[in-house]
Amino acid sequence: MADYIYTLETRLSPDQQKAVSLVLEAAKAAGMNLYLTGGAIRDIITGFPIRDLDFTVQGNALKLQKDLEKAGAVVGDADDETRTLLLTLPGGVRAEIAMARSERYDKPGKPPQMAPATIIEDLRRRDFTVNAMALSMNEGSRGLLMDPFNGVADIEAKVIRVLHNYAFLEDPSRMIRATRFTTRFHWPLEERTQSRYESGKENNYIEYIRSSSIGYEIEQLAYEDDALGVLKAYEKEGWLKVLNPRWSTAKVDTAGLGALMKTRQQMNELGYTPEVAPAVLHFLTERLGDKDISDLRRAIPRKDLVEGWKDLDANAHSLAKRLMGKEAATPSRTWQLLSAARPEMILFLAITARQQAVSQKIKNFFTKWRQVQQKIPLPEMTELHITPQFPAYPKIANDVFMLLLDGKLRSRTETLKYLKPLAPPPPPPPPPPPAKRGRGAKAAAAVAAAAPAETGKAGGKGKGKGKAAAVPAAVPVPVAEKSVAAKGAVAGKAAAPAKAAAPAKAAPPAKAVVVSKAAKAPAKKASKPAKAGKAQAGKKKK
Ligand code: CTP
Repeated sequence: MADYIYTLETRLSPDQQKAVSLVLEAAKAAGMNLYLTGGAIRDIITGFPIRDLDFTVQGNALKLQKDLEKAGAVVGDADDETRTLLLTLPGGVRAEIAMARSERYDKPGKPPQMAPATIIEDLRRRDFTVNAMALSMNEGSRGLLMDPFNGVADIEAKVIRVLHNYAFLEDPSRMIRATRFTTRFHWPLEERTQSRYESGKENNYIEYIRSSSIGYEIEQLAYEDDALGVLKAYEKEGWLKVLNPRWSTAKVDTAGLGALMKTRQQMNELGYTPEVAPAVLHFLTERLGDKDISDLRRAIPRKDLVEGWKDLDANAHSLAKRLMGKEAATPSRTWQLLSAARPEMILFLAITARQQAVSQKIKNFFTKWRQVQQKIPLPEMTELHITPQFPAYPKIANDVFMLLLDGKLRSRTETLKYLKPLAPPPPPPPPPPPAKRGRGAKAAAAVAAAAPAETGKAGGKGKGKGKAAAVPAAVPVPVAEKSVAAKGAVAGKAAAPAKAAAPAKAAPPAKAVVVSKAAKAPAKKASKPAKAGKAQAGKKKK
């Protein structure tokens, strides 16, 4: 039997794993059984990226809201009817926690009768076999997969199959969802499902779709990797006009959407993970009228997504203004400004900036300036004992990087001259060996007396017994040394993707680079070393 917990742990990102633990803790505290359900299980088995986490609890999910908010969750929507929470958990993890429920459809077009239920009953109300599985997270049954419709077999067969003959009639949004999943996975509808789908189309079941489902499906479109592909498929099937009567592929800014995805990919390679959903919606609806855009926004259940979409233009405008102002007068200050900006904003501005100077600064931030990190003389810094263990290391490394960026340290010699006075005193000599009696004691005293002088003379490079301790046995690689590999290119309109691809592959998260604290450093820091420089110049004259 497959070990789903092991697969889960290996497939989830660290942030997603933390999200699972957080939800599990909240459910435990509330005495509710917790299951991971829906797309996450399907994606764990298929190997497709796990985009969001759908949880089901046996109990009222809304009761978990307070605990989760305390743990840092942002609630995008709390639906009283289905007792479902739409959340963004720390690290930007999208999650949904729903109460296990049964649904009974009495009449097409009428909402189903809902009632709290067991997890197995809950699986029966779902759309497709591949989405109707649950993995227990609970003590005693942790890792147990519930798959009453043999979804695993359909995943292996790569087909989308409804659970029963009335699936599309009961919930016509399943037809839209069928189109979305067949487009995303390139899996066909199973034969009978296909004929039910055709019959649903012919008989215009879609007119019975609930408005809440329309909003939900607009929202889901924002998270598709190939949103344009899905939109085209919706248009072809006649679903796009269901989401909004005036929406069509002609209303999409295709070039903008393409640039968004390309730049996002390049940012990912540098370790940034900007949330693109608001910008996807922006470009998908670029040429729609204001009224239609407001209608779409009103329909979307996840309010944090809508806010992000609404704020895009204003935020990008304000970032562009700051990039044109004094705050970004030098490369180092621009670096600090952009390091502190939200990746989403940089990404959106990289694509939409009208001013050449703004685009150029963003381009430099992702390319040229990153390469300057390679000029930080790490081996020499290690020799000077300016290593990550030295408390002043982050500030020194950051200051050096800022000075290099601004061209204030123009050569290795200048950089070393700047660094030397900042080095810590050499480490103290090792303690003398324990005193011995007799002749041995005299010899030991002589060795002890000689040791400090020798250590000092050798500067930590000699071969004697005591000297070994002056050089740490294993000098850890400073963070910056690893991070200099992060030199891939990300650019806006004028991006050079060919350059970007090669070095970025091995790049560690850009956020981990030695300069990450730069953003917090006050502007005056940059002037301090300049003074030091002057002082040194003064000394030279003397
Ligand atoms: N679901 C359903 N019928 C719907 C909407 C959702 O049965 N009309 C159930 C399915 O079990 C689905 C789960 O709720 O898997 C979560 O829905 P959603 O997040 O929209 O889809 P995922 O399957 O998770 O796919 P993804 O998030 O990858 O798009």
